[in-house]
Amino acid sequence: MHILIINGPNLNLTGQREPAHYGTVSFDHPEQLFDQVIRRYPGLQVTIYQSNHEGDLIDAVQRARENGFSGIIVNPGAFTHTSVALADALRAAALPVVEVHLSHIYTREVFRRHNLIATACIGSISGLGIDGYLLAAEYLANHSAGE
Ligand code: DQA
Repeated sequence: MHILIINGPNLNLTGQREPAHYGTVSFDHPEQLFDQVIRRYPGLQVTIYQSNHEGDLIDAVQRARENGFSGIIVNPGAFTHTSVALADALRAAALPVVEVHLSHIYTREVFRRHNLIATACIGSISGLGIDGYLLAAEYLANHSAGE
């Protein structure tokens, strides 16, 4: 199976920006990051797409199925709290979607508790740093058999 990871605005800066919230590990070497999960699930492939633009993220979601992906991990960044359009696209994706946040959005500023994306996802992982992505990938690898 092939999982698409969609990272929203500012997540290209992960590893450098606000390390107290987002950690010091970057997405620069995905093959290293996902090495252990990929070994555990032969045939698993992971592709990371990042954009700072809402429309580009929506385009990536809309094309995910036709591009051969069988599951999506999404971290919409700040669009989590604002984007009805991205949530609608995820609902229409016809693929299992898991939401991940590096930081624990429910223990930070009040505005981060307002989450428009969660209801479009099977589940959400918040506050476990990069490990959240690995756990989400394992979940999708376990639950998308036959795809
Ligand atoms: C984030 C949390 C959001 O509130 C924030 O705007 C981000 C990153 C996270 O991964 O913790 O950009 O999605």
